[in-house]
Amino acid sequence: MKKTLVIWVAALVLCQALQAQIVGAGKAVDPYKYTIVKKGTFSKAAVSSAHPLASQVGAAIMKRGGNAFDAAIATQLALAVVYPEAGNIGGGGFLVGRKKDGEIVGLDYREAAPAAASRDMYLDRNGNAQLNLSQNGHLASGIPGTVAGLFATLPYAKLPFTQLVQPAIDLAEKGYVISAREASGLNSARESFLKYSTRPTAFTKEGKWKAGDTLVQPELAATLKRMQKDGAKGFYQGETARLIVEEMQRGKGIITEEDLKNYTAKLREPIEFNYRGHHIISFAPPSSGGILLAQMMKMIESFPVSEYQFQTVKSVQLMIEAERRAYADRAEHQGDPDFWKVPVATLTSDAYLKQRMADYDPDKAGVSANVKAGQIPQSEETTHLSTMDAEGNMVAVTTTLNGGYGSKTVVGGAGFLMNNEMDDFSAKPGVPNMYGALGGEANAIAPGKRMLSCMTPTLVLKGNKPYLTIGTPGGTTIPTSVYQALVNLIDFNMNLDDAINKPKFHHQWFPDEVSVEKDFSAETKKQLEAMGYKLKERGGIGRTEGIRILNGKREAVADKRGDDSVAGF
Ligand code: DON
Repeated sequence: MKKTLVIWVAALVLCQALQAQIVGAGKAVDPYKYTIVKKGTFSKAAVSSAHPLASQVGAAIMKRGGNAFDAAIATQLALAVVYPEAGNIGGGGFLVGRKKDGEIVGLDYREAAPAAASRDMYLDRNGNAQLNLSQNGHLASGIPGTVAGLFATLPYAKLPFTQLVQPAIDLAEKGYVISAREASGLNSARESFLKYSTRPTAFTKEGKWKAGDTLVQPELAATLKRMQKDGAKGFYQGETARLIVEEMQRGKGIITEEDLKNYTAKLREPIEFNYRGHHIISFAPPSSGGILLAQMMKMIESFPVSEYQFQTVKSVQLMIEAERRAYADRAEHQGDPDFWKVPVATLTSDAYLKQRMADYDPDKAGVSANVKAGQIPQSEETTHLSTMDAEGNMVAVTTTLNGGYGSKTVVGGAGFLMNNEMDDFSAKPGVPNMYGALGGEANAIAPGKRMLSCMTPTLVLKGNKPYLTIGTPGGTTIPTSVYQALVNLIDFNMNLDDAINKPKFHHQWFPDEVSVEKDFSAETKKQLEAMGYKLKERGGIGRTEGIRILNGKREAVADKRGDDSVAGF
């Protein structure tokens, strides 16, 4: 009896080891046995992402001759399998990269509103916004952009797509072991998957998921194989497109084959600015992230922030007041630049930002009701990954389904989750979206328009040389998280680990309150309250992944707030 058991266990281990070896990234990646690595210093190349297996896939691709762009593609594809909560092919994202020759690349593969979308599509007869429809199920999805983005990244990469997608195919086909966090995420979304999907999905099974279970996704593997064979057409046309449209029709969604066929990723000129000897490069509209970051940092640059010190009432109060003003501008002035004239130059100019801070009072809490967007002269759940290679290329990608597991609709027969990005539009002026963000005309729904994002994939140069790649998920807290990480590094001279993991705070104009993480300084909290600020404790803010060059090495850090993990060599 015992002997049989030993043989059986040995056979199982052997079988798993063999399966592990067939994973396209090589032996380095074992989907049945992996550990979370929060930081590492690597001499050549590094990846930091939301999942250990995805980071390992990215590092293995670079070891095989790929560069940071190859790693960004392969890591995103792996995340689409091992991190269904936010990794995706049914969502969208932004990539900012810097090639070793200094060329800067900004790729917008944000989802777009379907042709049949209309401004008031989420209003009922009485004009009330029905946010359930913009947040869950078939009508919540924009046209997915991620796959177009991956193929638009390919010209900067070195290896063929067929190789870059293989690890993801293997992970989907053979399965991978899920963590306690993933099991709990899947369990809590179970009812939603059943409600908003019209066919059985890989994400629900009889009984509850637990840590150590293996998640196998054969339909997703088949979809990835169609992309491997036919490129972007393997997603936007043919079988996959048909399955998406059929799923939409079963659930009153409006995405058509035409919508899918017409979708393109777009090159965008990133937002660039200097801050205390650092050159910062971040994303332009339709993400609001780069402009928010530039505004917040430039508003505080003339103050002696390092003297104020980390998380004192002085430094936090100043940073909050910059946040309040920048987010007021976001609501009024930012939207898809192909549909709305975003006054980028004015919003980020020194003169304008100085005037925005003219009424700043260091002794008193500001009041959002009194802070309107600046006057512009008439004339004119998400995941982040960072990669760096040995050649000097660096990439930051933030990609999203919007909420955790997106719309909770799995495309029947195709095995992937669709986004609920339509909620990032302003369904009705004055009605906050799921992140409490307000918007108006600039971000109203229109066919083909891309909804305003907060995603802030960011690169930093020092002395015109690559220094840092960073970014995070977190809805409206994304720009303020990146802002704090950068101020921590630059003003408070922290190491990257502390810059990412120290407690954070957030203000977004409305609601007029400061949210703080549980471990935020109790003393500063008390002092802010005494000044008139309303503070609210909340769960973790962001899951920031960063890599910086320090003494010629790549120092990679993954946020403590999740299963996030680094890999490199
Ligand atoms: O594009 C945006 O700003 C949002 N859809 C991001 C959502 C997000 O970060 C969710 N993660 N926590």
